[in-house]
Amino acid sequence: MTLFEMSGQVLERAVEKLSLTSLVLATSVFTLTVGYLGKLMFKQQHAGHAKYPPHIPSSVPFLGHAVAFGRSPIEFLEQAYEKYGPVVSFTMVGKTFTYLLGSDTAALMFNSKNEDLNAEDVYARLTTPVFGKGVAYDVPNPLFLEQKKMLKTGLNIAHFKKHVEVIEEETHEYFKRWGRSGERDLFEALSELIILTASRCLHGPEIRSMLDERVAQLYADLDGGFTHAAWLLPGWLPLPSFRRRDRAHIEIKKIFYKVIKKRRDAQEKDDDMLQTLVDATYKDGRPLSDDEIAGMLIGLLLAGQHTSSTTSAWMGFFLARDRALQKRCYNEQKTICGEDLPPLHYDQLKDLSLLDRCLKETLRLRPPIMTMMRMAKTPQTVGEYTIPPGHQVCVSPTVNHRLQDTWSDRLEFNPDRYLNDNPAAGEKFAYIPFGAGRHRCIGENFAYVQIKTIWSTLLRLFDFELVDGNFPEVNYTTMIHTPTEPIIVEKKKF
Ligand code: HEM
Ligand SMILES: *[C@@H]1O[C@H](CO)[C@@H](O)[C@H](O)[C@H]1NC(C)=O
Repeated sequence: MTLFEMSGQVLERAVEKLSLTSLVLATSVFTLTVGYLGKLMFKQQHAGHAKYPPHIPSSVPFLGHAVAFGRSPIEFLEQAYEKYGPVVSFTMVGKTFTYLLGSDTAALMFNSKNEDLNAEDVYARLTTPVFGKGVAYDVPNPLFLEQKKMLKTGLNIAHFKKHVEVIEEETHEYFKRWGRSGERDLFEALSELIILTASRCLHGPEIRSMLDERVAQLYADLDGGFTHAAWLLPGWLPLPSFRRRDRAHIEIKKIFYKVIKKRRDAQEKDDDMLQTLVDATYKDGRPLSDDEIAGMLIGLLLAGQHTSSTTSAWMGFFLARDRALQKRCYNEQKTICGEDLPPLHYDQLKDLSLLDRCLKETLRLRPPIMTMMRMAKTPQTVGEYTIPPGHQVCVSPTVNHRLQDTWSDRLEFNPDRYLNDNPAAGEKFAYIPFGAGRHRCIGENFAYVQIKTIWSTLLRLFDFELVDGNFPEVNYTTMIHTPTEPIIVEKKKF
């Protein structure tokens, strides 16, 4: 091992073990953006007549508010909103972030053009090494929009009908390992299950059948690319996680290429997502290359993996905390599907409206994507303020989902709030777990099918309780806010 590699390893270990706080310290050693910051400050002083959004002062020059934000981002943003209003800027690690808080100002992001508020500039350094070139944020946005359309074609009702069957089957199979009763790691179980179900539904039976421990490890290594380290540290650093990620990327693609070739050579067509991609063409008639398909398959799996697994885990804890609600959900299974609880059907899923509202409410209080981000490329006017180019413009679903003026009993888990006509004071962007506008999620319907099928099955199999009444705290160290100590008490129903 060279000295260079060794120092990479040491740095990485520091980065992995510690929270954002210490990561930020590690990063500041590199002072990657000091020059940039200097330029920015120079620009701010010479702004002329434009009025910039209020900037939260900080006595720490480079790190700025990274420590407070890293410790408790939602509280930080809520306090900023109280003190400074719906548009507020602050500095972290030499970068200026401007948050648009609340529905009215969030509209700026969702109605903007990608040339003005740009997604690639902030996301590509994370996603391109994981998905590969030629897809998502590696290509001009009009091309990605075409790719999203192809994916959407593959997420249709005919396919969902089959998904319900296989998700129910996979869930039964997976949870055979849980005994009659005991304390279990719910988040770990659902993460493992959702790789299996997502792989089978979105990649197809061939790729699912190859998903053994080795392949699961490759996914984990790829996934190790989505870290604060990858976002903040320069990509040329010899970090072990970067190298594991790059190796896994190559290995996974090799597996996918073989399956894609078989599909292309087959006499008869299948009817699933992979077939949709094999048959898809861009507007100019060009079909997708094997590399593009492989990249899209990786993207599909990872886009749905953490989002759906944290959401389903949180939903489990909300149901475990409120036993009466859990009972109502179980009774709904019987009313809608039949007293003897036969296998689920897609058509019944729609009618499970209480379960639907529980999922909706889970996504309100624990939206897995806590911040959407864009780079301002042109000056942006919002109210009386001008956001200058170079700011990272952000909207936080979590904050919008719990604003005092918008939501009544804002922190209560109350699925029945959606029975009222106007649960969010009629505000357009008060509820945005899947985003809005040109970057909106295409996976919403699939996520609902997957999570509702899993929870229908689990409610039929088990009763759930919290461990000594303890509801998990939010773990803010990862990019997706997961439950800490995600242990649940289960008892088999029969
Ligand atoms: C509970 C589950 C999910 C949640 C909460 C969620 C949330 C989001 C959000 C907030 C965005 C907007 C990001 C932004 O504007 O910066 C987004 C975009 C997207 N999501 Fe999801 N997602 C979920 C599941 C999925 C699944 C299952 C798939 C694929 C099958 C998927 C594919 C995508 C894609 C392709 C985009 C477009 C990104 C863009 O155009 O820039 N998502 N999602
Ligand atoms: C929070 O998440 C990180 C990353 O997954 C994990 O290493 C850590 O143990 C978690 N912390 C707690 C208290 O659960």
